[in-house]
Amino acid sequence: MKTNSVCALLMCMLISSCSEQPPVASDTADPKQQLLRQGQSRAVSCASCHGQQGVSAIAAYPSLAGRSQAELKAALLAYRSGEKTNALMSAQASALSDADIELLSAYFAALPAAKN
Ligand code: HEC
Repeated sequence: MKTNSVCALLMCMLISSCSEQPPVASDTADPKQQLLRQGQSRAVSCASCHGQQGVSAIAAYPSLAGRSQAELKAALLAYRSGEKTNALMSAQASALSDADIELLSAYFAALPAAKN
């Protein structure tokens, strides 16, 4: 019993020390990696329009990656308050909390910008 759990622990340590491929998931201590990880899971609903990494494949949907955080945050606040309206984006923004807006704007700003 005891030996088993020690083995399990060793296996875990072994597996986690080997799995360095996804840097986003492995390093929780680094604030940037943490931001990317949290942002990515919060941004799942944004990806269908704005692209997986905030780089949109469709001209009607602006790319968000690498834009300034202040600009992204201001846009989200404006859609949420109704100061700015868009048939698709207003509904998205109305569901966001202040913390979501903070996270999402920091996340997309931290992603590499579209090359075009
Ligand atoms: C159904 C499609 C759709 C989804 C899903 C969506 N958006 Fe958008 N978004 C748009 C469109 C279309 C625009 C451009 C609106 C306009 O031109 O006013 C936009 C604009 C924006 C802008 C402003 C960009 C600029 O250039 O001013 C931001 C920031 C943004 N979206 C963030 C998000 C975030 C964060 C999410 C996820 C919570 C999200 N969007 C989900 C369609 C979408």
